[in-house]
Amino acid sequence: MSANPADRAAAGPAAHGHSSVVGDERPVLDVRGLSVSIGGHDLLHDLTFSIRRGERVGLIGESGSGKSLTSLALLGLLPEGARVTGSARLAGADLDVVGASDRELAQARGNDVSMVFQEPMTALNPTMRVGAQVAETILMHAGRGGRPEARRGPVRERVTTLLEQVGLPSPAEIARAYPHQLSGGQRQRVVLAIALANDPELLVCDEPTTALDVTVQARVLDLIVRGVETRNSALLFITHDLPVVATVCERVLVMYGGRIVEAGPVSEVFTRPRHRYTEGLLGASDLEGADPLTPLETIPGSVPPAGMFPEGCVFRTRCAHATSECEVLPPWSGASPEHGYACVHPAGVDR
Ligand SMILES: Nc1ncnc2c1ncn2[C@@H]1O[C@H](COP(=O)(O)OP(=O)(O)OP(=O)(O)O)[C@@H](O)[C@H]1O
Ligand code: SF4
Ligand SMILES: [Mg+2]
Repeated sequence: MSANPADRAAAGPAAHGHSSVVGDERPVLDVRGLSVSIGGHDLLHDLTFSIRRGERVGLIGESGSGKSLTSLALLGLLPEGARVTGSARLAGADLDVVGASDRELAQARGNDVSMVFQEPMTALNPTMRVGAQVAETILMHAGRGGRPEARRGPVRERVTTLLEQVGLPSPAEIARAYPHQLSGGQRQRVVLAIALANDPELLVCDEPTTALDVTVQARVLDLIVRGVETRNSALLFITHDLPVVATVCERVLVMYGGRIVEAGPVSEVFTRPRHRYTEGLLGASDLEGADPLTPLETIPGSVPPAGMFPEGCVFRTRCAHATSECEVLPPWSGASPEHGYACVHPAGVDR
C-alpha cells in the first residue's frame, strides 16, 4: 500500500460535482494531503480523511499531537504566516478552506462548519447578553437583504428555541444574562447553541467538555450527539479522553506528531489496535472493562516539542518495538485513509 496520501485518497470517492446536486454523496469534509508549517516547524503532515453526513468521528492523541491545529486549519483560523498545503473541502460551501478568502471563510463558518472550543469564556463576549450573541450569529448568516427589524420577532423565538434545545432552563432569562452570570456548564451550552444556530453541516468540537464536571459533561455530550443526529450533519470530535470517544463516535483517527497514524471504526481500533502508539494510548486509558485496581500503564517518554519529532516513524523514539526499519516513514496499510495504520511491526493480539 502506498505511503502517498493522494494515492490512499484515491480509494475514497473522487467525484466532485456541484453542492446543489440532489443526492450529493460527497463527504461533508474531504481532507487530502493537508500539511501545515508555522515558523519553520512542520506541524501537520499529509492529513487525509473524510467525514460523511451522519458520521461522528473522533480525533485522539496526547497533548501536543496536533489535534487543535487540525481543527484551526479546517476552519481557516491558523495564525498569520502559517504555510498550508493540500486541501480541505467543505461540500456544503463547495469551498476548499486552503486558499479560501477571508470573506468565503466567514460565510462558511456557522453555516457549513462551526466550532465549539474547550473554554467557553473565550468564545463568548463578556460585555454582551448571551441572547444577543446567539441572535447575532443567526442574523449574520440570515438571508442577506432583509431588514433586521423585520426579522427581530422570529429571531428572538429562534434564540429561545435554541437555548431550550441545549437544555437550558428558563431560556428567556438566560438570554438576558451576561456570560459571567452563568455557570461553566450553562456557558458551554450557550456556546453549543451558537455553534448549532445555523444548522452547520459539520460541527467541530475541541475538548468541549473538559472544563465541566462529570454529570454536566454527560449531558452536554448527549446534546452534541443528538444535535448531530437530528440534523443528520457530521461531527469531528477532538479529545484525549478515550472513554468519551467510545461514547460519542463511531469512527476514530489517532494522531501523533502531526500525523494520522491509525484510523478505523472505534469498535475495532479500541479493541484491536494495530499501531503501537494506539496500543500505548489504550493501555494508558481507563476504558470500560479496565480493572480499577490495576494502575494504568504509561507511554514511556513524552511528546517532543514542535518540530523535534524523529524522521521515519514519528513514534519510534518512544516505541519498545522500534527497529531500524522504523527509520523510514512506514507505509499506510489498509483499504482506505479511513481504515488502516502506519506501523511496520503492528500489534495483532486480540485484547
Ligand atoms: N501558533 C503556533 N505556533 C507554533 N507552534 C504551534 C502553534 N500552535 C501549536 N503549535 C505547536 O504544534 C503542536 C501541536 O499543538 P496542538 O495545539 O495542535 O496540540 P493538541 O493535540 O491540540 O494538544 P492538547 O491536547 O494539549 O490540546 C505543539 O507542539 C504546539 O506547541
Ligand atoms: S513503525 Fe516501528 S517505531 Fe513506529 S510504532 Fe510501529 S514498531 Fe513502533
Ligand atoms: Mg488542543
